[in-house]
Amino acid sequence: MIIAVDGPAASGKGTLARALARHYGLAYLDTGSLYRAVGQAVLAVGGDPTHEGAALAAAKALDPTRIDEKVIRTAEAGHAASLVAAMPAVRAAMLDLQRRFAARKPGAVLDGRDIGTVVCPQADVKLFVSASPEIRAHRRWLELNSSGVSLSEAQVLEDVKERDRRDAERAASPMRPASDAHLLDTSDLSIEATFDAAVAIIDKAMG
Ligand code: DC
Repeated sequence: MIIAVDGPAASGKGTLARALARHYGLAYLDTGSLYRAVGQAVLAVGGDPTHEGAALAAAKALDPTRIDEKVIRTAEAGHAASLVAAMPAVRAAMLDLQRRFAARKPGAVLDGRDIGTVVCPQADVKLFVSASPEIRAHRRWLELNSSGVSLSEAQVLEDVKERDRRDAERAASPMRPASDAHLLDTSDLSIEATFDAAVAIIDKAMG
């Protein structure tokens, strides 16, 4: 059983996907962490994440079992991730890894931007999770604040909008709902209500 969870930054897709994996006893892969790790690896050696050679070398050298969660969660790593993720060669280097993960038994939940459209078009259930940019920026701002990062909410909103634009407008695997995805707008939903709505969709789809 494969569940694809796509959506923009700070839509709540990661929290939801992790909870769904636990609920259904499936493996979980946050595919954004792969692009973040590639972006961060370029930054770590003083490289330029817009330079395709540097990004591809980092993508090929990536060991997904050795990703340091702390260093990839910074705003800089997120920014670098969205730059390297726009490169077709980097995406191709990540594809096999994601598909092998999805083939695990008894199944997997993958979250990202192109899981339902490119990585696992055969997924049993596809969810596209969204929320308004203002709500997503507010959530991200609360998260950053609680971890001691002092950015204004307006700056976070600008960053969210810029990332949405880059993820949705790139030519290589742009972020968009698959034609058979279930749309889940979490703007007015709590984490629990989002989970309940997703489980209802999945249980119905699986009969
Ligand atoms: O979900 P996130 O913020 O951790 O993702 C980081 C960046 O990686 C984001 O700009 C989009 C990109 N990404 C992607 O292009 N495809 C994926 N499957 C997952 C993430």
